[in-house]
Order: sequence, then structure tokens, then C-alpha cells
Amino acid sequence: MQEFKQATGITPKPREEVLKRTGDFSGGLCQRAWVEIDRAALSHNVRQLKKLLTPATQLMAVVKADAYGHGAIVVARTALDAGAGGLCVATLQEGIQLREAGIEAAILLLGATNTPEQVRAIAHWQLQPTLCTPQQALVFSETLSELNQTLPVHLKLDTGMSRLGMPWQEARQFVQLVQQLPGLKIESVYSHLATADSPDPTVMRLQHQRFENAIAQLHEAGIQPPRLHLANSAATLTDPALHYDWVRVGLSLYGLYPAEHLRSTVNLKPVMQVKARVTQVKTIPPGTGVSYGYQFIADREMRLAVIGIGYADGVPRNLSNKMTVLIRGQKMRQIGAITMDQLMLDVSSIPDLQTGEVVTLIGQDGDFQISADDWAESLGTISWEILCGFKHRLPRVTVGEGMKR
Ligand SMILES: Cc1ncc(COP(=O)(O)O)c(C=O)c1O
Repeated sequence: MQEFKQATGITPKPREEVLKRTGDFSGGLCQRAWVEIDRAALSHNVRQLKKLLTPATQLMAVVKADAYGHGAIVVARTALDAGAGGLCVATLQEGIQLREAGIEAAILLLGATNTPEQVRAIAHWQLQPTLCTPQQALVFSETLSELNQTLPVHLKLDTGMSRLGMPWQEARQFVQLVQQLPGLKIESVYSHLATADSPDPTVMRLQHQRFENAIAQLHEAGIQPPRLHLANSAATLTDPALHYDWVRVGLSLYGLYPAEHLRSTVNLKPVMQVKARVTQVKTIPPGTGVSYGYQFIADREMRLAVIGIGYADGVPRNLSNKMTVLIRGQKMRQIGAITMDQLMLDVSSIPDLQTGEVVTLIGQDGDFQISADDWAESLGTISWEILCGFKHRLPRVTVGEGMKR
């Protein structure tokens, strides 16, 4: 510090004085922007969601896509500690990442894996694959026989999503084939719903009926799969008849509701907040153009703040001139085109705003809250996409209760 003073002639402000304005944040004084993950909120959500289930049903935490942008390892550990029975990921690499972090819980791979190399990796890391076709089952069986290993496998039926899965009408033949193949131990039969978040239940009911019909086919052939599962978040919140042995919950784990009409079903707390710091404040005269393309021109003298977050961090450029943020518990409007690393705000209502102060883009500040749903609505998309859109350039900083492991 002494050297800095001599070299620059500047006397740095005492740390306490700086912190008064900027707030400390586990090393965050170095960060221009970050994603805050509230582990206590996540645990709360797991507990609330489990209250909807009977003890016979387990909650499988869907932590694919880096836990919807929240950070897969921290989310997996927190969810398991709070009572989740296992984990679901989309890709082999996502499963390996969790195993490398020392997570020993059951991990279901929701996505397709087809090659002998993938089978070897799945066996090595003790992951549980989804099988959707006889060809795929044969590749798994041959490779596992060579390895002299047996793996738990999950058979997926297509009941109307028209994505992965064997047509539900062929459930019996498919299950019987897999039963005969060496190296494969059927762990569950499952399907996925296409419209569970719609207020119109017609398609969901049809898919449920088809799933029931497929199970009846199996029972008639004397087959009792150890587990059945069908529900995502929306179905978990909608109807206990859809719960079966596992529910695969993603979005609601993170504190969001899959649809407006499901808000009253359970009390959830958002897990993610997105924050950034003010990097410069200045006054601009009337008529001044702001940012690329001058999509905003000041109609009066204005205090303008530059914030250190942009579209390369996951703030969609299409929110330019449409979004609000929170500073000191007040709403501030964003102005001009959002740029790659920075965006600008009209902060005229806080004339003494300082560099380093914290801006909440998604989250709560005082009485106001901005959610991923608000962004999704402005952009004509869904909150799932907003959550997954925050880039790794933003450090994930965890707050809330400690992890046991
Ligand atoms: C097969 C499967 N199950 C469950 C989920 C979880 O869905 P949600 O995030 O709506 O809970 C997903 C997510 O896309 C999925 O693909």
C-alpha cells in the first residue's frame, strides 16, 4: 500500500469506506459482474417440492446444462443434501463432471448415447443410460458383455413428445428384448410430457393414458419394471397421479414456475441472482446519443451509468431499451443498445451514484424483484432459456447455508 502511495501519489480510501458503498462479496470487489446462487433457496425448494410427493416417490434433480446455468456441482450437492434421490443430466460429459467431483448418487443420462466408446465411458463412470431403440440396446449389450459388466438402464417410451423414445405401442417387445440381452438390467421405464405446463390438460392426459396403456402391456406379459417415471416440474405441480416412482424436476428446483397457473401450488424461492457493478457515472446533455446505432437519444440532461455486463455475459441484446434493473432498491431503466461487455442506464434519480455500486439485473433489491420470467416475457421466450443463457464468463458465487460435503 505504501509503495502504491509513493508511486502514484494517491492515498487509497480505507477498505471499510469502500465497502460501505460497494458491499463486500466474497472477493467480489474484483468482479465486474457475477451470478449469485442461493443454496438455502435451493434446499427450500427441494423440501417444498418433496412435500407434494408421497414417501414412495423420489425427487430426481435435473442438473443438465450446468444445472440450468446455476453450476452443476454445487446444485447437485445441495439438492442431494436437501433430500433429492438422484440426478439427471443430458450428456455423458455432464455425468462425468459430477463423478469427477466425487458425487456418488445415481446419475441418469437423459440424452442418447450410441457408440461403444460412449458405453465404455458410461460403464467406467457408473452412469445410467437411457435406451430408446433395439439397435442402441444391442450396442450396449455387446460392449458390456466384452467388459463383463452389467449396467442399470432406463427404457424410454415416446408417448407423444416425438423426441427420444421407442413408440409406446411397442413397449412390450422393446422391454422383452432388453430383458434378454446380457449386461443390461432394466432400472426404469419412462416417458416425457410435451405440454404439462399448458392450462389445457388434453395432450397431457392423452400421454398419461398412453403411458398407462404401455405399462398395462408390460403387466400382461408378466413384466414389472422396478420404477416408472413421467413427470417434469409442471406435472409434479399439477397432479399426484403423474408422480409414479420418480419425478424429474428441473425448473422448479431453481425457484421458477413452469406456468402462471401453477404459481399457487407451492412456495418456491428463486435461486439465481445476476448482479454487476457500476463502472462509470457521467452527466450527458440533451440530444446526446447513447451506444451503438444511437437507439437512444437523451431528451434532457441525464445522469448515465455504465455497467460491466453485456451480451457476451448472457444479457440478450434484444432487451436493449426494454429492461429495467435495480439499484439501491429503485428501478432504473436501461438505455441504448446493450453491448458485448457493457450496458448503460439512466440513473438521473440517484445523482450521487458511485462507481462500484451493485446493480441487480435478476433478483431482489428492496421491495422490487426482477425475475427470469420478466426477461422471458419481454423476449417472447421461456425462463429455461434465460437461466441457461448466462455465460461462464460470469463467476458463480454461492451464498446461503454451507454444504455438508
Ligand atoms: C426428459 C426430461 N425430464 C425432465 C426434465 C425437467 O423439466 P423441467 O425443467 O420442466 O422440470 C427435462 C427438461 O427439459 C427433460 O428433458
